[in-house]
Amino acid sequence: EKGGYDHFMLKEIFEQPQTIYDCLRGRLDADKGTITMSGIQQYAEQIMHAPRIIMIACGTSWHAGLVAEYIFEELCRIPVEVEYASEFRYRNPVINKGDVIIAISQSGETADTLVAIEKAKEQGAIILGVLNVVGSSIARVSHAGAYTHAGPEIGVASTKAFTAQLAVLTMIALKIAHQKQTIDEERYHVLCKELMAVPDKVATVLEQNDNIKTLAQKYKDAHDFLYLGRGYNFPVALEGALKLKEISYIHAEGYPAAEMKHGPIALVDETLPVVFVATKDAYHQKIVSNMQEIKARKGKVISVITEGDTVSPTLSDDVIIVPEADEIVAPMLSVIPLQLLAYYVGVAKGYDVDKPRNLAKSVTVE
Ligand code: F6R
Repeated sequence: EKGGYDHFMLKEIFEQPQTIYDCLRGRLDADKGTITMSGIQQYAEQIMHAPRIIMIACGTSWHAGLVAEYIFEELCRIPVEVEYASEFRYRNPVINKGDVIIAISQSGETADTLVAIEKAKEQGAIILGVLNVVGSSIARVSHAGAYTHAGPEIGVASTKAFTAQLAVLTMIALKIAHQKQTIDEERYHVLCKELMAVPDKVATVLEQNDNIKTLAQKYKDAHDFLYLGRGYNFPVALEGALKLKEISYIHAEGYPAAEMKHGPIALVDETLPVVFVATKDAYHQKIVSNMQEIKARKGKVISVITEGDTVSPTLSDDVIIVPEADEIVAPMLSVIPLQLLAYYVGVAKGYDVDKPRNLAKSVTVE
């Protein structure tokens, strides 16, 4: 049932070209420029005019919410907040009439997320679910939503659910932005095509498998890792660090690259691997200077870069190359090498990557 792979985690990482495709299929028609999502269509007016969107989630799903924050604000011009469900439920959050809450959850059973949306629903918010498990508890509480269609995720560490969440959230943002006319026709069509091209590009990223396996061998004995990214890739840095912690038990931190100077840079010496999520985007020059700063302090730079980038390799000890893509969809590509890196480091250290210690697949108690 692992389909020839050593672990479910590896199988699920490799399934991503298919799962992302399954998620887009029947919804996004890039040639016609249409996005069909009935649950979202039903609430389109409310979403378009929402004074605020609040994403509620935990863990990896919370990271998907952070990427979505950038996408919704950019495309839809609606203020977005991203909340840890556990924090949101216990404070006395301000919820105004018309606020739209998007609950993001693979399992649909995470206790904190469930209670957080129940409370918000009582206060009059509209609850949309971006969920993988059909008919789950969160699905039952939600007014509407869109499933991720990633299929069962068995590995405890979330991989394919994350990219499917990003695909769904991007489709929702595009649909709303188009209807609201906060992006022009041309950009809308470009982004529809960019999204449709993601599955094939993910397949190309997976060709880096052997390269990443070698890198894992090289860096597996490090005690700490730093992951840095900016913009759409900042949450990807957080996700890369979380994956490594879960699977390899190596301490890792994700940071917005520019925040490094406000503290974490003190950690940098010749023993510290620093993973830069540095695909080409509006911030690229900025992150290149951050790379220079790490190199100047003798840190080991591993960078995830866009094909054709000739500058980053001169500042990196190791590079992982991903195909060119619009910055809005880039996280679905740049996260893949980080999933593989965590996987191969865990395997190299002899750990049970499908069932990391102390973790449960769904956290149904708070
Ligand atoms: C990370 C991981 C967890 C989950 C979190 C939320 O690899 O698996 O951080 O992402 O427990 O779970 P769901 O998405 O089921 O609500």
